[in-house]
This record gives sequence, structure tokens and C-alpha cells, in this order.
Amino acid sequence: MTPAPLIDPFARAITYLRVSVTDRCDFRCVYCMSENMTFLPKKELLTLEELDRLCSTFIRLGVKKLRITGGEPLVRRGIMTFFGAMGRHLDSGALDELTVTTNGSQLEKYADDLFAAGVRRINLSLDTLDDDKFAAITRWGRLPQVLRGVDAAQRAGLRVKINAVALKGFNEEELPRITQWCAERGMDLTWIEVMPMGDIGNENRLGQYWSLRDVRRAYEDHYTVTDLAERTGGPARYVRLEETGQKIGFITPLSHNFCESCNRVRVTCTGEIFMCLGQEDRADLRAPLRAHPTDDAPLEQAIRAAIGLKPKGHDFDYSRQRLDGQMTRHMSHTGG
Ligand code: GTP
Ligand code: 5AD
Ligand code: SF4
Repeated sequence: MTPAPLIDPFARAITYLRVSVTDRCDFRCVYCMSENMTFLPKKELLTLEELDRLCSTFIRLGVKKLRITGGEPLVRRGIMTFFGAMGRHLDSGALDELTVTTNGSQLEKYADDLFAAGVRRINLSLDTLDDDKFAAITRWGRLPQVLRGVDAAQRAGLRVKINAVALKGFNEEELPRITQWCAERGMDLTWIEVMPMGDIGNENRLGQYWSLRDVRRAYEDHYTVTDLAERTGGPARYVRLEETGQKIGFITPLSHNFCESCNRVRVTCTGEIFMCLGQEDRADLRAPLRAHPTDDAPLEQAIRAAIGLKPKGHDFDYSRQRLDGQMTRHMSHTGG
């Protein structure tokens, strides 16, 4: 018998699960982490077998799209075994898409394995193509390593979408260059508005905010911009630049709220479910998972109960020159 689908109190079907498999990262992006992060002790983490059981339960309950995030997901030891195991849900047709959001640092090593596991499309976070600026914004990252990762991913047959956080005074001037680079390589590009996740200082965040309304206008100055109806199941709205044919996505939590079409929840590496990226609402799935190693019913019940409490949306708002709706947790906790 097919279980009832996961439907939240606002009649939204939950079909997209984002799983953060580690809170660790080999970069320290300034808008995401502080330089001295304290990470979770290993014993707090779900094992890869537990993550498998958790994801498989969600898939049985109707999740069709699974995105692996972090921290940086590809730094978790043994993670390719997990990708391989999730591939079985693609083979069976239960899952439509298995994908990953990565900083690219480990792609040279893992691109082929990802493809072999059934991943066909990845999202790669990259905010600048300037070596020095890249080192500055990621603190620990180095651009050439990531660019080799992009090469490896494309060679392996993975479609790559670039995610860039739009940051005033940082990558504004690079918009044409980044856009052209993506066009040359046949990659889509998505801009993201910077969200108030984790404390990095008030002034910083407000000063950095670059509304995607302005980014869109910047494109309109140089290109013919056509709105597209197509969606990927994520929050981005897409346009096509007629001159290059490329697709540009806009993720606009601040300038245009998209919560009404939300279809996703997040699970962290400790087995906490977060019902909304921009709210504190959470529930523990680790306890029912561990207390009943051979019976999935209590876990299913806990998942349904959590989704029954999914809030309407976030309260992010910079319009009063304040960081309203700010979250105390960092983005790396839930993986964006
Ligand atoms: P596609 O499958 O390519 O559509 O991916 P996606 O946009 O769903 O995933 P990705 O990991 O590329 O997400 C990009 C960023 O969008 C995330 O890191 C978040 O910053 C933001 N984002 C994703 N989902 C939500 C959401 O539900 N609410 C808010 N406010 N931001 C989100
Ligand atoms: N606001 C918007 N996007 C962010 N990311 C990390 N922190 C923030 C933030 N505060 C992005 C990363 C990556 C994705 C996982 O989330 O750049 O693309
Ligand atoms: Fe790491 Fe991604 Fe956060 Fe940068 S944005 S520190 S790459 S988790």
C-alpha cells in the first residue's frame, strides 16, 4: 500500500528533502561561517547507515528529489558509499533526482563517482572568478582547485549550475564576467540574495545586500531578458538571455518571497528536521530512529508530526534597515 503523501498545514506537498551530511567545511565563507567554528563531536552524527534509513523513509513517504548538502558534503568520510546506496532509489524509480550542492573543492576526486551513483546535475557555489577575492571571501578556499573541480565535473558528464550569492561591493562588477564564463561553459547561473543566517555582524549583512531586482535590471541593460515558466523544484525563477541562450536563476527570499510554493524540508547530520530555513521550528528524528532499529513506524510518525508543524514561511526583512527575522544558526547547519 502506498503511504499517504506528506502534506503540510498550508496544503503544500513535501517532495524535496535536503540533507546536510556534515556541518564541517574546508572553506570559511565570510557570509556563512565565522573563522573559528566549533563543530559537532563525531558521536553526535548519524552514521551513513542511519542517514540511509532516514532518507529511504522520506522517499517512501513521497520525496522525489534528494539534495545532499553540508557544510561541504564531499568532505564527509565515506560519503560516496552513501551516494552509491541512494542510487538504488533512482534505479527503482522512487526518486526522480539525486543531487548535491558543493563548494567544488573535492570534485576533482569525486566527479566520476557521483556520476556513477546516478547524479546528473550538481550545484556549485562560486561567488567570484578573481583569485584574490575568492581567497578573501572563502578565507580557506583557492580558486584553481575549484576550477579543476568544474572541469572534472563537466568531463564526467555532470551538468553544473553555478550558485552565486549577490554581494554589493563584492561581485557587482563581475556580473558580466561570471555570466560570460557560464555561457562559454554551457552552465546555468543562479544568483541568491544574502540571508541573515548566523551572526556575522549587522552592518556587514545590510551593507552586502544586493537586491536581485537590481541584478535583473543590470541584465536588462545588456541583454534581452525573457521570463521562463520552467522550474527545477527549487526556489529559483529563471529567465533566458536571448543573446547567449543561457538560463539565469534568481533566488529572492528578500525581494520576492517564494514560501507559498515551498516543497521542502531539511534534515541535519544529527537527525534534526528543520521545517523552514528561516524559522527555528525543528524536531528530533534521531531518537525514534535509534530507539526502533527495525521498525520504521515511529520514525514515520515523527516525520509526519514535524511536517504538521511546518510554518508558513520566513520573516527575513531588511526594509527597516534592520536584520528582521535573523536566524542564530549558520547556513552550514542546514545546508542552505
Ligand atoms: P535546484 O535543484 O537547482 O533548483 O536547486 P535549489 O535551488 O533547490 O538548491 P541549491 O542548493 O542550489 O539552493 C540554493 C540556495 O537557495 C540555498 O543555499 C539557499 O540559500 C536558497 N534556498 C533554497 N531553498 C530555500 C528555501 O526554502 N528558503 C529560502 N529562504 N532559501 C532557500
Ligand atoms: N545567504 C544566502 N546564501 C548563503 N549561502 C551561505 N550562506 C548564505 C547566506 N547567508 C549559500 C552558499 C551556497 C549555498 C549552500 O548557500 O553560497 O551557495
Ligand atoms: Fe563552506 Fe558553503 Fe559555508 Fe562556504 S558557504 S563556508 S563553502 S558551507
